[in-house]
Amino acid sequence: MRVAVFSAKPYDRQFLEAANAAAGAPHRFEWIEAHLGPRSALQAAGAEAACLFVNDRADAEALAALHDQGTRLIALRCAGYNNVDLTAAARLGLAVGRVPAYAPEAVAEHAAALVLSLGRRLHKAYARVREGNFALDGLLGLDLHGRSVGIIGTGQIGRAFARIMGGFGCRLLAHDPFPDAGTAARLGLEYVSLPELLAQSDIVSLHCPLTPATHRLIDAEALARMKPGAMLINTSRGGMLGTQAVIAALKSGHLGHLGLDVYEEEANLFFEDLSATVLQDDVFARLLTFPNVLITGHQGFFTAAAMRAIAETTLGNLQAFATGGIPLHPVSAPSG
Ligand code: NAI
Repeated sequence: MRVAVFSAKPYDRQFLEAANAAAGAPHRFEWIEAHLGPRSALQAAGAEAACLFVNDRADAEALAALHDQGTRLIALRCAGYNNVDLTAAARLGLAVGRVPAYAPEAVAEHAAALVLSLGRRLHKAYARVREGNFALDGLLGLDLHGRSVGIIGTGQIGRAFARIMGGFGCRLLAHDPFPDAGTAARLGLEYVSLPELLAQSDIVSLHCPLTPATHRLIDAEALARMKPGAMLINTSRGGMLGTQAVIAALKSGHLGHLGLDVYEEEANLFFEDLSATVLQDDVFARLLTFPNVLITGHQGFFTAAAMRAIAETTLGNLQAFATGGIPLHPVSAPSG
């Protein structure tokens, strides 16, 4: 099959080509650096499948443009599908496949890395030591042992994060619309309401999908419920935080630390080297000024094991569609 790979980076090429070669090279990839949009869709002319990532916007217009020129499969190389208009895809008869799970530990470990770096001020210490400044003022650390960690969403990543934080001797609180008694017993966590989790946790970490219900889940009211000086970690999707409310809470000192791997407007920033250009996003620029904020550019998934798993599952979706017309891990439009 001809496959147009949007938002293609050298590392996508490396892992997808390796997976394709291992399967006997049944597919021919075309590498398109641009994000998918109505105009860039034209670059996929003749490709039966379009392979997309988190910041490709598969809205009705882009999907129609792909469909008009022969695309029949949208193969997401990510788990989340909030960027695909599934209703439009169904109307056009486009199949959608995704990678439901790939090393959830990779994202959970990255969330833990943000906790440790912020808690022990590693991002400040690294720069200081390189400049010959060995003073400790301002580097006073946060002990994890005995702290309460609030986990919002106990799916694959949330559970992996719970296991890690449990290992540090943290008390584990969780909130999920589908609490699971087995998970609670196995991981030693306690399910509580969201307000209770916010009020009791020293560290709050988001591990739920972006849906209408979780959009701006952490707004001014939620932040006000959090303990003064608490830490907030978001490795899920940027839209779950009200960024202006977060900035206000950082300015007042109520929010003690913020660790982000995602940002609501990241499509214009992340995955590109913009170091020689002027940053146009004033909200993001403000976030960067805080000493107690640590931001990474959506790299939670980016480990060798996870990239291999993404490529292999994507190949599985392409193969299943090529032979049976249905991807291995299909995503369907919401009913009703
Ligand atoms: P999952 O589907 O295994 O688990 C999600 C959990 O969230 C489920 O238990 C669900 O019941 C729960 N949930 C749904 N609505 C909720 C709400 N309103 N409040 C609390 N919990 C709620 O998903 P998984 O694999 O654990 O991934 C979680 C999220 O992590 C993804 O949706 C994605 O946005 C993000 N992610 C980030 C990556 C990165 O590189 N930073 C990579 C992969 C995923």
